[in-house]
Amino acid sequence: MLRSEQEQLRKNIEQWVEQYGRDRSALLPVLKKVQHDYGHISEYVMQVIADILDIHPVEVHGVVSFYSFLGQRQKGRYVIRLCRTISCDMQGKDRVARQLRNDLGIEFGEMTPDGHFTLEWANCLGMCDEGPAMLVNDRIYTRVTPERIHDILEECRKSFGVYPTPMKEAEPA
Ligand code: FES
Repeated sequence: MLRSEQEQLRKNIEQWVEQYGRDRSALLPVLKKVQHDYGHISEYVMQVIADILDIHPVEVHGVVSFYSFLGQRQKGRYVIRLCRTISCDMQGKDRVARQLRNDLGIEFGEMTPDGHFTLEWANCLGMCDEGPAMLVNDRIYTRVTPERIHDILEECRKSFGVYPTPMKEAEPA
């Protein structure tokens, strides 16, 4: 996006915030407006809205993840967003990213073929002193290590029954 387009987008968001109220209650209507007018909600937009409303970026990400009609494209049931900003970068986000790619078999920006997971980058989630930070839908994970990734993914998979309990075979009559 060109700088002039970014500036225009920021101005529009400012205007909608004025219209809907300069507090948390404006978050959802403003997101809907961006989705309607721009067709998607980018990382940049989420950051701008968090700045203008003076709320934690995690809140904005959480709302976008929660409402299926918001976002960029079709997403998996779980949207995993790993922070790539400098503090998390210095605290080992690359190792975590590698583990996520390996375990899910997809690249950032992709969704698993079964539609269960989408993997994305995020900009600063406001947890810089506890990096690497990662969001799974609206749940934040801090000090994430490659070793923890397996457990986090398992937790998600279990919640939607990817591992169903085997059916007990009927006893012969
Ligand atoms: Fe990752 Fe701030 S740099 S949370």
